[in-house]
Amino acid sequence: MIRGKFITLEGGEGVGKTTNLLFIKDYLEQHHIPVIVTREPGGTRLAEKIRALLLDKDSEAISEHAELLLMFAARAQHIKHVIEPALTRGSWVLCDRFTDATYAYQGGGRNMKISTIECLENLVQGNLRPDLTLLLDAPVEIGMERARERGMLDRFELEKISFFEQVRRAYLLQAELHPERVKLIKANQPLSDVQRAIVDVIRVLLR
Ligand code: TMP
Repeated sequence: MIRGKFITLEGGEGVGKTTNLLFIKDYLEQHHIPVIVTREPGGTRLAEKIRALLLDKDSEAISEHAELLLMFAARAQHIKHVIEPALTRGSWVLCDRFTDATYAYQGGGRNMKISTIECLENLVQGNLRPDLTLLLDAPVEIGMERARERGMLDRFELEKISFFEQVRRAYLLQAELHPERVKLIKANQPLSDVQRAIVDVIRVLLR
């Protein structure tokens, strides 16, 4: 059995991840590729419970270390019970956020040490890295406006603009550090142009 490909979708708040995730799923299915769609934090019963704890805006103050460890605890469950089994049986995995989000939010946003994140990444993931990461990038104000329009903000969405500027910068740095894997897609252009750019990148994986 040929191992499936692991694709992750990243970006700040309100950049259109959900719409484009479904677009990519349809595109792959049109090409007869078995694919599952999942998300982080989350993707298993336990990991979804951890997600609820992480996003709860009425929670007691969550320490930076607790936040980081909860992200990776959820990720460990997700890899073991969903991602690895799917890839092994030949299915592609399309994941809404993965470890680049940890570099962006906990590393960039919360200023946590990159070496600490790397250490947990190696511990929890072993050799597992995405085959392709699409980074949807837009100015912070545009994304926040969209997130606000959606209603009820979660614990992260309530952060200050400066937090999201740091998140964006850290994401862009990931694209610079891993140009082979992370493909930057400008999200503040008409949806049809965004999706054309996405297809150009995905097509390469289909060969
Ligand atoms: P979302 O998937 O609905 O965008 O929400 C998940 C939130 O969790 C989002 O604000 C980003 C944040 N997050 C982290 O801070 N670190 C991570 O590693 C992941 C996967 C998500």
